[in-house]
Amino acid sequence: MERTASEPHRIAVLSSGISRGSNLQAIHSYLQAHEQRVQIALAVFTRKASPAFAQAQSLGICTALIAAKDMAVFEDKLLELIQLNSIELLALAGFMKCLSAGFITNAAIPILNIHPALLPKFGGKGMFGMAVHEAVYAAGERVSGATIHLVNPQYDKGAILAQKVVNISICKNPAEIAKVVLKAEHELYAPTICKVLLNN
Ligand code: GRF
Repeated sequence: MERTASEPHRIAVLSSGISRGSNLQAIHSYLQAHEQRVQIALAVFTRKASPAFAQAQSLGICTALIAAKDMAVFEDKLLELIQLNSIELLALAGFMKCLSAGFITNAAIPILNIHPALLPKFGGKGMFGMAVHEAVYAAGERVSGATIHLVNPQYDKGAILAQKVVNISICKNPAEIAKVVLKAEHELYAPTICKVLLNN
């Protein structure tokens, strides 16, 4: 199924575990409002119980469930879906597992991840969710932010594509930092995806 020039570019969003789906929602809203040359053609989840799963369905996004118990099986199925659906970019949002070098090579499309801090600081294994903001707070940082990077087989180590810096000097605790950073994530992800796909 090849995309014709008049059809929108097709992306997939991938989340694992119990994802809130706030980035999925933000990407969807941005594309609807600003950039109709790109569409979320598929949202892939590892658990049906994820709030983001129901949300994707209510947004009319095509969904797929793949168990992530065996990562080799998971990657094979994901690759098949990418190819069947002519996906041109895979956006990770709350996907907590590493993807293998083989998968990344075979997919042969840009694979992006969003991280809730200014990489290369505060990244790596175990650095997800509130653990990131707690570390940022404990370090006494005055700024934090969101980072979009290409995915490679190491956690949070791929080439950085975009960052949005936010002032957190007035945040009184990690939860306040999380709130400010999440807003930055929502502002940064969709425009970066469009930049990568549309080369602008
Ligand atoms: C975001 O904070 C993102 O940076 C991280 O996982 C979280 C996903 O949140 N990788 P949501 O499910 O998009 O709300």
